[in-house]
Amino acid sequence: MKRYLIATIICATISTVCCCDVVKLTFPSGFSLGTGSAAYQVEGAWNVSDKGENVWDYYVHNHPEIIADGSNGDVACNSYYKYKEDVALIKSTGFDFYRFSVSWSRVLPTGFANVISEDGLQYYKNLTAELVANGIEPIVTLYHWDHPQVIEEMGGWTNELIVDWFVAYARILFEALGDSVKRWVTINEPDSICGDGYESTRLAPGKIITDIGKYLCGHNVIKAHAKTYRMYEEEFRDRQGGVIGIVLPVSGYLPYNSSYEDAADTAFQFNCGWMAHPLYFGDYPEIMKTRVALVSESQGYPRSRLPEFSDEWKAIINGTNDYLGINHYTSRFVYNDPDEELGIYNSDSGLLMTVDSSWPVATSSWLYVYPEGFGYMLRKVRDEYNNPSTWVMENGYSGADNLEDYDRINYFYEYLKEMLIAVKRDGCNVEGYGVWSILDNFEWADGYTNRFGIIRVEFDDADTNRTTKLSQAWWKKVLSKRKLQSVPTPTTNTNTRTGLPWQK
Ligand SMILES: *[C@@H]1O[C@H](CO)[C@@H](O)[C@H](O)[C@H]1NC(C)=O
Ligand SMILES: *[C@@H]1O[C@H](CO)[C@@H](O)[C@H](O)[C@H]1NC(C)=O
Ligand SMILES: *[C@@H]1O[C@H](CO)[C@@H](O)[C@H](O)[C@H]1NC(C)=O
Ligand SMILES: *[C@@H]1O[C@H](CO)[C@@H](O)[C@H](O)[C@H]1NC(C)=O
Ligand SMILES: *[C@@H]1O[C@H](CO)[C@@H](O)[C@H](O)[C@H]1NC(C)=O
Repeated sequence: MKRYLIATIICATISTVCCCDVVKLTFPSGFSLGTGSAAYQVEGAWNVSDKGENVWDYYVHNHPEIIADGSNGDVACNSYYKYKEDVALIKSTGFDFYRFSVSWSRVLPTGFANVISEDGLQYYKNLTAELVANGIEPIVTLYHWDHPQVIEEMGGWTNELIVDWFVAYARILFEALGDSVKRWVTINEPDSICGDGYESTRLAPGKIITDIGKYLCGHNVIKAHAKTYRMYEEEFRDRQGGVIGIVLPVSGYLPYNSSYEDAADTAFQFNCGWMAHPLYFGDYPEIMKTRVALVSESQGYPRSRLPEFSDEWKAIINGTNDYLGINHYTSRFVYNDPDEELGIYNSDSGLLMTVDSSWPVATSSWLYVYPEGFGYMLRKVRDEYNNPSTWVMENGYSGADNLEDYDRINYFYEYLKEMLIAVKRDGCNVEGYGVWSILDNFEWADGYTNRFGIIRVEFDDADTNRTTKLSQAWWKKVLSKRKLQSVPTPTTNTNTRTGLPWQK
């Protein structure tokens, strides 16, 4: 710790160049570098064998108009059939881990634990075995947005019974894969599921349950995570020895100017704190409880729309995160909504967000590039939760369908540099980092229009052939040297986008 302190003081006096000398842009020994995917985004094979229908199958088939190109994940990358090729590519790139998710309705066709699909389970056993045989650590996400449609018909994440259904599903996977899998993710990005799935049409199930749906969903997500954690602790931990964490999408929330330090903190609490505070401290952040109660009252609700945990639940939830998984892509400047001075409440947080006009934007409309926000966020996490074990499970950049993806390499370079400074200079306990994504894949409501892969997939052809991009070659060098590599200079400008600020 002292080392970091001294480095920080020196750096503070000698400017940022010093940071990189201190950091040397090497990864600490034991640091884990990997990549990831999600079942619905890559597997395809939506109706093989006895697989049940999930919310995404249902959503894209019934509402193709919601998807930018009217496409769906029926075939996607065909990874259900091509997992050996995927694993070979992950291995040849040199990644340490592969984080994949399990499709609930592929394993449990009825949605419940009464029927286990042999084929479904076998697929995940095969994939896990293939990874292990190739020296790649499997990290398994139990749930990445695709719960069985039958459960949605009963309210999905707004029905508290999902907690028990989820635990029963998780138990089957711990039993089947837990001898090989030592790092589990319960739920990926509750904020997206609950905010976009139950208050907007952006993600399945696309139910607009204004004001109420999001928090009810979040409440049940926390309970499902915690009960699953406790079940693992009681039934599996001794013999399997794995760790369990949740994965939250955390942007960098920076004050618009120094008047808005509190606003930036509030933004963080409404985003990361919503889930992380209960898991580390047993209850929602105070600012969330106060603000949602206040705004609920102003709207005439007889009680706060943010549900409360009983003391019994607080005890169950408190301390149920072995590591904090974070997906980070972008940042925002935060300031207070001036309408509140007039007594008008436009949102629970009372905040507005903006970006700097100099920040480049990826093909995803929300993905503004601001690498400094990554380090800022990691330091905030360090300070809020007693420097928890932290795994960046997703970080990446969406671009055009382009093999010469210089903009993506730039993004990785600048973001990784900020992460290494946060780790080596500032002592942030980040132990792993995952590239999103190994393959171009079905990007939810954006369909196949935004490509995050370091490997291109030919979606228009039944062969779904894979082709490595320049960023894959760059990663291969980074992984073999365990050190950031310089960014190649484009010989021709292959992008229609304007240059990034560091391409001076
Ligand atoms: C599975 O879905 C495809 C469309 O994606 C369809 O062509 C095929 O007939 C379906 N197969 C079965 C067994 O239902
Ligand atoms: C699993 O692997 C076995 C042996 O290679 C193969 O026969 C089977 O088809 C695979 N099953 C799935 C679902 O991938
Ligand atoms: C921050 O920005 C607000 C709104 O533009 C302005 O009123 C305030 O004076 C600024 N504060 C500082 C410290 O610059
Ligand atoms: C959570 O656990 C910590 C440490 O055991 C304790 O200090 C704290 O009071 C608990 N929180 C709640 C809300 O019970
Ligand atoms: C896909 O790859 C296979 C094997 O390399 C090749 O035979 C096939 O022609 C390719 N398909 C397309 C459309 O390029």
